[in-house]
Amino acid sequence: MPLPQTFRAMVVSETEDKRFTREVKERSLTDLPAGELLIEVKYSSLNYKDALSASGNKGVTRKYPHTPGIDAAGVVATSSTSQFGTGDQVIVTGFDLGMNTPGGFGQYISVPAAWAVKLPQGLTLRESMGYGTAGLTAALCVMRLMAFGLTKDSGEVLVTGATGGVGSVAVGILSKLGFNVAAATGKSEEKGFLTKLGAQTIISREEANDLSGRPLQKPRWAGVIDTVGGNILATAIKSTKYGGLVAACGNAMSADLAVSVYPFILRGVSLLGVDSVEIPMNTRLRSWQKLAHDWKVDLSDIMNECVLEELIPKIDLIQKGGVRGRVVVDLSR
Ligand SMILES: NC(=O)c1ccc[n+]([C@@H]2O[C@H](COP(=O)([O-])OP(=O)(O)OC[C@H]3O[C@@H](n4cnc5c(N)ncnc54)[C@H](OP(=O)(O)O)[C@@H]3O)[C@@H](O)[C@H]2O)c1
Repeated sequence: MPLPQTFRAMVVSETEDKRFTREVKERSLTDLPAGELLIEVKYSSLNYKDALSASGNKGVTRKYPHTPGIDAAGVVATSSTSQFGTGDQVIVTGFDLGMNTPGGFGQYISVPAAWAVKLPQGLTLRESMGYGTAGLTAALCVMRLMAFGLTKDSGEVLVTGATGGVGSVAVGILSKLGFNVAAATGKSEEKGFLTKLGAQTIISREEANDLSGRPLQKPRWAGVIDTVGGNILATAIKSTKYGGLVAACGNAMSADLAVSVYPFILRGVSLLGVDSVEIPMNTRLRSWQKLAHDWKVDLSDIMNECVLEELIPKIDLIQKGGVRGRVVVDLSR
């Protein structure tokens, strides 16, 4: 297939009065940086970080105009390395994609080969973006908790921000593996969604957000996957049982964490950090294999699909914590 002269992409621009506008525009392949792989993007997905990039957060994206999209799944159009050939189906998540490198909200990306993984057997490109960075992060959290000894017999595992992208996939994976999952959510209307994903208990955001100021709470959780940070993470740490494990991966509520050392020195609680952006390739490949096979969750309720134009209002929604599950973007339409 000959390469097109232009392609469609969402472009975020900074106006003179420091506002940020989003529109779908024609871009030229020559607008892309030089890279070992030119990839025709078939699907992308919306993550919380994309909303930050699309709103002018300079900690995520320094220069505008810019095309966000930290996730992309597509087909190699040209390759200058022997690792990948034309026509290979690949996934790119994390690294600098969509931050200061034009991202998956465009029909083409140009990236180093070291950022790409071959689509694992057992997943379609569309399903891979049903997971995207959020799903990969959920898998990494579960892997980390299990590597430190959490088993399905350890006790209840709390997932916070449970209807969000990371949260919903985490609930799905944990329940598939037989864990007893408690889901904390601010969306009381989504109890049915979380129960169908396998959560055994639903707790409200208020219950998960203790305001008493006490340094320790009644011990309850054997494990925690926290996607929101702030006082909800602090509450989870204070409510973790002796020897329990807390995986922290997000800051949808706050990047701050105010806890005393008592949960760590009196209950031996461990706080485990989880990153999906710079993880080594072998861990990345292992996580995708898990998501494609023994940890594969039914994404039909989790995934919503849209086209580029429909993505723009969803960016505002995810910033308000209003998205349920995962938004997949079909770039072929
Ligand atoms: N470490 C990494 O590599 C990595 C990778 C991916 C994501 N993340 C981070 O993980 C977090 C979740 O990402 P995501 O893609 O799952 O985002 P998301 O889809 O927007 O989910 C976040 C969820 O958190 C809850 N929430 C939102 N605002 C809140 C607030 N002010 N207070 C309490 N809860 C709130 C909501 O769930 P409920 O309504 O159900 O409570 C929301 O759906 C983000 O901070 C993101 O940056 C980190």
